[in-house]
Amino acid sequence: MNKILVTGGLGYIGSHTVVALQQEGFEVVIIDDLSNANEDVLYRIGKITGITPQFEKFDLRVKSLVERFFSENKVAGIIHFAASKAVGESMENPLLYYENNIHSLVYLLQACEKHAIRNFIFSSSCTVYGEPDSLPITEEAPVKQAVSPYGNTKQINEEILNDTCRATKLQAISLRYFNPIGAHESAEIGELPIGTPQNLVPFITQTAAGLRKELSVFGDDYPTPDGSCIRDYIHVVDLAKAHVIALQRLLNKKNASNFEIFNLGTGRGSSVLEIIKAFEKVTSKKLPYKIVDRRPGDVIAVYADTTKANSVLGWKTEKTMEEALASAWGWEKKIRGV
Ligand code: WQD
Repeated sequence: MNKILVTGGLGYIGSHTVVALQQEGFEVVIIDDLSNANEDVLYRIGKITGITPQFEKFDLRVKSLVERFFSENKVAGIIHFAASKAVGESMENPLLYYENNIHSLVYLLQACEKHAIRNFIFSSSCTVYGEPDSLPITEEAPVKQAVSPYGNTKQINEEILNDTCRATKLQAISLRYFNPIGAHESAEIGELPIGTPQNLVPFITQTAAGLRKELSVFGDDYPTPDGSCIRDYIHVVDLAKAHVIALQRLLNKKNASNFEIFNLGTGRGSSVLEIIKAFEKVTSKKLPYKIVDRRPGDVIAVYADTTKANSVLGWKTEKTMEEALASAWGWEKKIRGV
């Protein structure tokens, strides 16, 4: 039995992971409430892999629906993406984040216990580190006071998982993403922010496509080489593959403990201005931008120490930041018909 539940599987990282799972021979069932995804992603996944996954549309905050799903579906493991994920929105509406991101996890874990589901992959974030004391960041770096309710829910969720793995037979792996960017080479799936993009790369591609007048660079007076913030931009296809490898680690009982954590990044930092220059080079398009004030909550620099993921998980990135930017542009051009 190799049926895997992917919650939030019609979202950006979720859909790329569903493709990777199907290409590895897994049967996938998706739960998504479509609050931040379009149902046509299901058919786009089918176009890429030739298999349209089973899809159940409901909200994981409704405990009775979670219970009904598991009474009707036997799964070998869960990859849990479904969550609210916008840092800025979480500052304005913290209770939405605490209710959604915590209740959903608790109801899923209660179902795991009741239905003897032992394998759980959690979508976490480098946000849990806050402003790091040293770089690159290892998994042993201290989890700092979160700068947003979104980041706090990721920290709380990891604690819930750790406690549950200690008290029950659950085995879990938390994957701390750095900055996912790019799109599948088919340009059938990619990042599709609803409304004004909060993240850098979709704002860049929408500006290049003429949907936005110019990019605002949130500050160039940081203590970095060119003054703009540094991040670790990882191709979403590399990120998706890491989920399959982590799931197989649990299914094959190769995990070293019942709760493991891995940083998923390239190990290289790029500044905002470097990303802009790389995008212009890759696309041969001039990107209009202006320098504005810093964005509250931004950390100066964050990029991963990938030693543990490389040596223990046996995964490393294969694609470059430039390939990710080119694929992001290919996706934007396809959906805008430019
Ligand atoms: C990157 C850099 C901005 C937009 C967040 C979450 C993280 C994950 C990814 C969910 C920063 C600058 C951005 C713009 C800009 N989310 N920027 N102009 O904040 O590093 O990470 O999103 O999983 O958990 O914390 O990503 O893309 O928003 O910003 O100058 O219009 O680009 O200041 O330095 P971030 P981001």
